[in-house]
Amino acid sequence: MGFRAVLNRPAVYELLQFLFGYRRRLVREFIRPTTGMKILDIGCGPASILKYLPKDVEYVGYDLDARYIAYAQRRFGDRGRFYCASVAQALQQAQDATGFDLVMAIGRASCRERVFRVV
Ligand SMILES: C[S@@+](CC[C@H](N)C(=O)[O-])C[C@H]1O[C@@H](n2cnc3c(N)ncnc32)[C@H](O)[C@@H]1O
Repeated sequence: MGFRAVLNRPAVYELLQFLFGYRRRLVREFIRPTTGMKILDIGCGPASILKYLPKDVEYVGYDLDARYIAYAQRRFGDRGRFYCASVAQALQQAQDATGFDLVMAIGRASCRERVFRVV
């Protein structure tokens, strides 16, 4: 099994993210959340970033994978709104909404490429 195939296993991907502290650093250095901040997460996966965000942010996550969305709903409940839909729908939603303070697409390069190709 190649390295990429191993990374495709959600549990392995999650473990690496945790071990290297990527998400904590990402939130501290780049997202820098403020009270009431409205965040759109395109390709949110299991929405694990929420663990590192304060409870008072408004979080909306989109992902193509229904298993990830179901997992996010189970794990985070009403801490966010989670939709199984493509990024194209996400952008439509973003236009309809009153405006996001931050739009993010976080992940491995191959996934980001897929997301941005659709954008
Ligand atoms: C590597 S994962 C990253 C997940 C999460 N952002 C994180 O940092 O853990 C990339 C995710 O993007 C999703 N994805 C890829 N193309 C997409 C698209 N066009 N619209 C919505 N989600 C997409 C995949 O299903 C996958 O769950």
